[in-house]
Amino acid sequence: MSPDTTASQLCVSLRNLSKTFYNNGRSLTALLEVDLDVRPGEFVAIIGPSGCGKSTLLRLVGGLLSPSQGRVLIRGRSPQDAQKEKEVGFVFQDPGLLPWRTLLGNVALPLEVNRRARRSDPADAMPLGKHAGRRGTASHQAPSPRDLLALVGLAEFEGYYPWQLSGGMQQRAALARSLAFGPSLLLMDEPFGSLDELTREAMRYELLRLLQGAGGEGHPIRHGGSPTAWEPWPGRAGYERTVLFVTHSIPEAVLLADRVVVLSSRPGRVVADLAIDLPRPRPPSLEEERDFQSYTSRLRHLLREQAPEPHALEARTPGHAVHG
Ligand SMILES: Nc1ncnc2c1ncn2[C@@H]1O[C@H](COP(=O)(O)OP(=O)(O)O)[C@@H](O)[C@H]1O
Ligand SMILES: [Mg+2]
Repeated sequence: MSPDTTASQLCVSLRNLSKTFYNNGRSLTALLEVDLDVRPGEFVAIIGPSGCGKSTLLRLVGGLLSPSQGRVLIRGRSPQDAQKEKEVGFVFQDPGLLPWRTLLGNVALPLEVNRRARRSDPADAMPLGKHAGRRGTASHQAPSPRDLLALVGLAEFEGYYPWQLSGGMQQRAALARSLAFGPSLLLMDEPFGSLDELTREAMRYELLRLLQGAGGEGHPIRHGGSPTAWEPWPGRAGYERTVLFVTHSIPEAVLLADRVVVLSSRPGRVVADLAIDLPRPRPPSLEEERDFQSYTSRLRHLLREQAPEPHALEARTPGHAVHG
């Protein structure tokens, strides 16, 4: 990153970011003096030992928590301003779908809430006409909930209730819901963490497809250039899609990311920032290649230096999930 790159040119800029929680007279520092820049269009994965502050970091970026020290900027503005503009989408480990609503009803929920908010307090909700659409329309046409479900391959299931669907399908619906306003920044906190291994692997490739284009082949993500012609993830004019992705799976991080940021054990500090220089599109066969495996083993080493029990990173800790 050149030194004259200003915060407003970056999608996310974290400076000297620390977070200390105070509970019952005790303090716990979750995150310490984190500096991190994410350029527009980048996919950055964050890995680190359990409890090192990964979710805290994501919640700070999303404006769900405020920093104890330092600052968070999203395109040069506060997370709260970015939230107001509906620029940020969240996907958590728990899909968090409402059981009494159909899939379509769940995906439509953010838009309904926004419409209601506009009626009661117009200053608090995003006027959807504010952003020019990318497909040549004068005003921002939010994708319809049906379009979003089709995007994640769930068009036929719009009338189903969450409990009638597999975990993977529920998580795809949660992803569709997070795209309701065409966010330019997607924050994903172990989104596939509660899925079985096979579904989880399939979901990685689903996400790559969503980021790369129809079929996942021939539509590489462009970095710093103009947006791709076919846009599977409905975005906004002049915005590139950027992802901050927390995972405890090293292969997942390497497969998906342009950079993998490694945090130390608590309090989380950035101990490595590794560029993943693998070509896109990334087919499943890539995982067998030497370059891929050398990245995963490098990251494994880095993590071992952080965690007393390296295997704890690969195993999911039951009940461990600080969401939101
Ligand atoms: N709201 C909170 N109040 C108090 N402590 C918290 C809160 N949220 C997280 N923590 C603590 O901060 C540390 C980091 O948590 P978290 O960011 O969830 O870790 P990770 O996502 O890396 O597993 C943990 O020790 C956790 O218990
Ligand atoms: Mg977490």
